[in-house]
Amino acid sequence: MTPGTMAGSQEVAGDAPGKKYVCNVCGWIYDPAIGDPDGIIPPGTPFAALPEDWVCPVCGAPRSEFSLLEN
Ligand SMILES: [Fe+2]
Repeated sequence: MTPGTMAGSQEVAGDAPGKKYVCNVCGWIYDPAIGDPDGIIPPGTPFAALPEDWVCPVCGAPRSEFSLLEN
């Protein structure tokens, strides 16, 4: 993995663009390199850049239910 080298990606202050986030409710993992599997969010979108009303595609939990996934 090469954080910070994605072509055309925007910098998000205070957040690591390449970090994965895990849903506290169902355990689904948001991977910025993949985006949303439903196709709403394009690959390369940092978690911090997701829309405020975005929810977990599996269980519908809000963004506030997600935690940073450390390696
Ligand atoms: Fe979930």
